[in-house]
Amino acid sequence: MRTAYNNEFRLKDVGKTVTVVGWVAKKRNLGGLIFVDLRDRSGIVQIVCKPENPNYPVLESARNEYVLKVTGKVVERESKNKNLPTGDIEIEAEAITILNEAKQPPLIIADATDALEEVRMKYRYLDLRRPVMQKNLMLRHRIARSIRNYFDENGFIDIETPAIGKSTPEGARDYLIPSRIHPGKFYALPQSPQIYKQLLMISGFEKYYQIVKCFRDEDSRADRQMEFTQVDVEMSFVDEEDIYEMVEKLFHRLMKEVMDLEVKIPFPRLTYAEALDRYGTDKPDTRFEMTLKTLNNLFKDSEFAIFKTVLSAGGAIKALNVKGGAKLSRKAIDNLGEDIQKYKAKGLLWVKYDNNSFTGPLAKHLDGLEDELIARMNIENGDLILVVADTLKIASTALGYLRNRLAREFDLIPEGVYAFVWVTDWPAFEYDEEEKRYVAAHHPFTSVKDDDVGKILTHPEECVAKCYDLVLNGYELGSGSIRIHDQKVQADVFKLIGLSEEEIKDKFGFFIEALQYGTPPHGGIAFGLDRLAMILAGAQSLRDVIAFPKTANAIDPMSESPGYVTEEQLEELKLVIKK
Ligand code: AMO
Repeated sequence: MRTAYNNEFRLKDVGKTVTVVGWVAKKRNLGGLIFVDLRDRSGIVQIVCKPENPNYPVLESARNEYVLKVTGKVVERESKNKNLPTGDIEIEAEAITILNEAKQPPLIIADATDALEEVRMKYRYLDLRRPVMQKNLMLRHRIARSIRNYFDENGFIDIETPAIGKSTPEGARDYLIPSRIHPGKFYALPQSPQIYKQLLMISGFEKYYQIVKCFRDEDSRADRQMEFTQVDVEMSFVDEEDIYEMVEKLFHRLMKEVMDLEVKIPFPRLTYAEALDRYGTDKPDTRFEMTLKTLNNLFKDSEFAIFKTVLSAGGAIKALNVKGGAKLSRKAIDNLGEDIQKYKAKGLLWVKYDNNSFTGPLAKHLDGLEDELIARMNIENGDLILVVADTLKIASTALGYLRNRLAREFDLIPEGVYAFVWVTDWPAFEYDEEEKRYVAAHHPFTSVKDDDVGKILTHPEECVAKCYDLVLNGYELGSGSIRIHDQKVQADVFKLIGLSEEEIKDKFGFFIEALQYGTPPHGGIAFGLDRLAMILAGAQSLRDVIAFPKTANAIDPMSESPGYVTEEQLEELKLVIKK
């Protein structure tokens, strides 16, 4: 139907008669000439139609988003548009056909939109017509293609695993599917293919990958969807180093192919404890410095009551130097203090340094330590020092939050930089105060360091996991571990996390049994494809890189799901809705 995509025409095509198709992005009538920006997925080409053209009335009747087919001659433009790749030429219309008409769209089909989220989602097919959304989804396609090529070339086998199966514990709530044939019984949608990929290792496939939908009934956030896509990987006969290398090579290639960027490998590594200590988070944004410092030593003899109490309780005094932050008003700093209450921090202490002197609530408690503080925190005039004294976890996470937030507000985050970092050496188990039991920090199939195997039931809090996260620009991009391949160790872990013999048998009996048939040592990782696409697209929300996502409150306004079902359907499933 067409000669080429609209974005492909250049000066070299002048004189050729061509046919183009697409949507009317803009129509102008200037002194009798009609100009139309005709959009297809590649971009825009300008059509011009003279009044003497017999098809002039056809074009005159076309409105925005009408679908046209235009045949005409490529001519050089008199006034060129430097902002458009096709801005040197235009197509002088001869034949014009309206392929279809369009209602007035409820949102503007352009990159910049002021349409409400609700409207964008209701008319998602029009939202997806916006060039920026097309660009995002095409980028996502190129990412997926690069991933597939890499795994294929490296001997990985793409194997599909069931979407309807049994609940596996990844820490979120399951989506359940009632069984019609077995009333009262439920399938679960997979939170990840974790157990299946381990079974595939037991089957002897050795290298598996899959780009796969996962489902978690958890509250949506900008970087979380109930239905999302993982790049899921598992390998046999590997240790952590093998996984790091495989992943680093993947991203080295992907960043080159997709973004034309050379990322440095191997990626830097931080232990979980280092990440928390320096960045105040287990997903550090390492695109900028501004690290947290620990001032316990500096203030060890301080008479300041808050410091004394915290230090004697074994807590931490953590500090952050906000370069140029002295310009923040007292009110703005007070607001930061209120904000960190969500991390349970009781307060925010601070001093400003300007004209070679300290001012602010903490100034009078420095007690001759000014010079040492300046040296430790690399303080210059104009800086603001924020201090939180609390438990190590609270002080670090509160300041970690402020680090990210102030870096954004002070424009300290460089554009176009992609900072990958491994976070390693995670605690294997955490004590859940609410549930009064230990939970697996990653998932219960994660092995602990060799020296810790004997401590699983006796000193779980001391066990370090063979677990790693890949962090990119402050987002948890991927997570994985070396797995337990010994059924006795696996049974210990299930016991530790509070599963009774009965529950272990009921939930994981098949898996424990499978482990007994010659399980190779194995490990793997899974990445969020949506998250990767979001970061590389420079988008702020996963919704900008998923074709048909759900809104923050888990609905699809377009198809109006979830929806009610008929009494007959409920009856078939033997379900009764409680009023
Ligand atoms: P995990 O639960 O850490 O590990 O998930 C791996 C990666 O999947 C992405 N992700 C999400 N993306 C969007 N929305 C969500 N709700 C969501 N939840 C997770 C993140 C995350 O890093 N089976 C293990 C992996 C393994 O051990 O191999 C697992 O699923 O980018």
